[in-house]
Amino acid sequence: MKQETILLHGGASFDPITGAVSTPIYQSATFRHPALGESTGYDYSRALNPTRSVLEKRLALAEHGGYCLAFSSGMGAISALVKLFQPGDNMIVSADLYGGTYRLFSAYYAKYGFSFSWVDTSDFEQVEKNYSPRTKALFIETPSNPMMKVTDIRRCADFIHGKGGYLIVDNTFLTPWYQNPLDFGADFVIHSGTKYLAGHHDALSGFIVHSSDEAEPRLRDAQMSEGAALAPFDGWLTLRGLKTLALRMDKATANAEVAAFWLRRHPAVEKVFWIGFADHPGYALSQRQSRGAGGMISFYMKDAAHIPHILKKVSLVMFAESLGGTDSLITYPVVQTHGAIPEAMRLAAGVNDRLLRLSVGIEDPDDLVADLDQAFAGFRPA
Ligand SMILES: Cc1ncc(COP(=O)(O)O)c(C=O)c1O
Repeated sequence: MKQETILLHGGASFDPITGAVSTPIYQSATFRHPALGESTGYDYSRALNPTRSVLEKRLALAEHGGYCLAFSSGMGAISALVKLFQPGDNMIVSADLYGGTYRLFSAYYAKYGFSFSWVDTSDFEQVEKNYSPRTKALFIETPSNPMMKVTDIRRCADFIHGKGGYLIVDNTFLTPWYQNPLDFGADFVIHSGTKYLAGHHDALSGFIVHSSDEAEPRLRDAQMSEGAALAPFDGWLTLRGLKTLALRMDKATANAEVAAFWLRRHPAVEKVFWIGFADHPGYALSQRQSRGAGGMISFYMKDAAHIPHILKKVSLVMFAESLGGTDSLITYPVVQTHGAIPEAMRLAAGVNDRLLRLSVGIEDPDDLVADLDQAFAGFRPA
């Protein structure tokens, strides 16, 4: 099956019991046993749930993986993945990444003896330089959140495999429609399904997809023990979202192209970061490892004082945290998504008070640009 068909039918096209063409929401915490020692395969929804099972199979197929586990959020998935490692282990992590992942690693797992090296992974020499014998994994976002830096998945995979470690790729921004990191040697793919996969700003979900089935029992045990498994209704919303992922991603990307060029021409904007620009430093690499640029754009305004004005005046584009949905959102990373990152580290990564991040949705592009245009207008510098 090709990718668009997998997103619709992968795992199960219909419910085998009733023939329902929409996977039923199995809203049951527990399942009756026919007799002692007998099970339908489902015992308790923290461990397995039939709605979740269809979603897990579908995403495993879409990401070309051996299996997938669905969690209650992206953070639940990332937290479970860390359980594969031991206190004392080190992870090299993209310095420019979602602030919640930074907070989870530095404020929580560091307390339990894990160490993290924050590195610009788009610069491969930095990866090599920061490797130590304690390094057991590379954790990368490509493109990164929010600076849109592109990291070479194949090169990172070859390097860390040579040292006996694992490559983990957070594929939230490009999704399996545009990028399949496992095809380039990654061992694990992470998703915040809250974003493009569910796609409508109405559900939380998170995923781990693994290239083989080697770690499945340990990860399922971590999920069962910790309890961050995906609930049936949010699972169903994510399944429904996957059906239109390809259409939404292509439309968001087409809209992002219009918005990115509009921003680039605007006199109040200093610099625009979008991996679809042919002069983006990661463009050639993106062309090799991805099939589309996606709908995420970051940009520096010339004057930080302009930002409160814009955030107050946007109307169609909503000032809100999150990304990847049907509706366009604008985010101020320095106080929202990346507020948990210490100032010096944030600034070194480029996340300053002049940076805005735009998640372009699927509205009409003329309306989007008109809204940005009116929001940018009327600012009087002090
Ligand atoms: C790239 C990335 N990874 C992971 C997460 C965490 O996902 P969730 O909010 O579903 O827990 C986010 C959230 O914004 C994200 O942007």
